[in-house]
Amino acid sequence: MKYFSEDDIQQLEKLFRINLINSCTGYKSANLLATKSEDGIENVAVFSSVIHLGSNPPLLGFILRPTTVARNTYDNLKKTKVFTVNHIHKNSIEDAHHTSAKYDGEISEFDKTNLNAEYKNEFFAPFVKGANVQIGCSFKNEYFIKENDCLLIVGAIKHLHIKENALQDDGYISLEKTHSVAINGLDGYTLPNLLARFEYARPKE
Ligand SMILES: Cc1cc2nc3c(=O)[nH]c(=O)nc-3n(C[C@H](O)[C@H](O)[C@H](O)COP(=O)(O)O)c2cc1C
Repeated sequence: MKYFSEDDIQQLEKLFRINLINSCTGYKSANLLATKSEDGIENVAVFSSVIHLGSNPPLLGFILRPTTVARNTYDNLKKTKVFTVNHIHKNSIEDAHHTSAKYDGEISEFDKTNLNAEYKNEFFAPFVKGANVQIGCSFKNEYFIKENDCLLIVGAIKHLHIKENALQDDGYISLEKTHSVAINGLDGYTLPNLLARFEYARPKE
């Protein structure tokens, strides 16, 4: 096995360290977060840190990089209190990745890619058309992570749209049927393959 100590990691060339540390925790969720400014400018950006926080109440979270530079997603969701989380479809990975480019707040990534906005339930924030899982969230809270100046943003799930044939009788969403990708590192997009589902695990007798 190749080994890196904490000191070794500190000494690594920057891009190598970024790739290594971004990959070592495994596959990450791949989502497009969409918002709209008070002036009506739509924004969409790729995020790999969206996580499940709890199902009752239904909450999710994501990590926001330090706000020392302009963060359109953050500015919009703080002002409008809403954002959407949209699974990245396997056919839109190139456009999804491009949304990470640093565009000015006046420019919508929807205009710079083939991604399209879609409005439902009179929700202020746009959904991403063609995403087979779309989640409308309201901003609940933010927690400062003092170790690296990031923020954990907590959102409440208000609206949940799922492609009909992907929803199973027990509520499980079959992510093969939604063609949702996962992220490896900071620039790898992958299509996972389900191996098995199991019964609720109980201690062995
Ligand atoms: C694969 C990938 C995953 C990313 N995940 C995150 C993330 O979880 N949190 C974050 O703050 N930025 C993340 N980014 C960076 C944002 O996409 C980038 O900063 C983007 O410009 C933010 O757009 P905004 O300023 O319009 O909000 C990621 C970028 C890539 C390429």
